[in-house]
Amino acid sequence: MGDIQRLDKILANSGFGTRKEIKKMVRSGQVIVDGRVVKNSSIHVNPYKDEIMVGGQKLAYKAFVYLMMNKPAGVVSATWDGKYKTVVDLVPEQYRHFEVFPVGRLDRDTEGLLLLTNDGQLAHKLLSPKKHVPKTYYAAIEGKVTEDDGTAFQNGVILDDGYKTMPAELKILKTDDVSEIELTIVEGKFHQVKRMFEAVGKKVRYLKRIKMGLVALDESLALGECRELTDKELEQLKRP
Ligand code: URA
Repeated sequence: MGDIQRLDKILANSGFGTRKEIKKMVRSGQVIVDGRVVKNSSIHVNPYKDEIMVGGQKLAYKAFVYLMMNKPAGVVSATWDGKYKTVVDLVPEQYRHFEVFPVGRLDRDTEGLLLLTNDGQLAHKLLSPKKHVPKTYYAAIEGKVTEDDGTAFQNGVILDDGYKTMPAELKILKTDDVSEIELTIVEGKFHQVKRMFEAVGKKVRYLKRIKMGLVALDESLALGECRELTDKELEQLKRP
């Protein structure tokens, strides 16, 4: 990447405060670019090539951030909601200035893997209906899930609005009064997993997303926690 940007913008994007605060900080001599103290925050520099030191610390510039969250139930997958807490409210302070948004939606009562980023291009790619990014859910289902349900999902089921789902893969982990399953779907219709089970006469009691593309939920994350994606995870998501 070779983009030249205003120093104050780079520092603002890196969480050093407002432009006004940054102007003051630069004036006071706390910022060094390529070994020289700079006093003017409107100069243009290349954050990927030029060495920027702030208060003696080298800046590792990042324009984008990619977070994996273990979403808890009770929060909505949005940046703002008039009634409920949002996933963005759970993002740690150190990432706030990136202004991340959730990549797609999980229902308020659904838990598990949710990606958050400020990279609109990647989000768009992952959500594009044409890309058929597989998403795997773990669910507890009221009633006995059978191989017939698996066959129905493989062939596609008709949802309440008449839509026929694309082939989906059902793995039965436990069949009982409450069954446990994993379901992989390659689309993202509203309440899709719940409505697919309704289509075969069953009810989802608990739902958790465990995988998106090749990226699996880090089970060491407590509910509500998030961490940055590793380079490998990011590469897996970016792969066409
Ligand atoms: N399917 C659902 O029914 N709900 C979700 O949150 C995700 C997939």
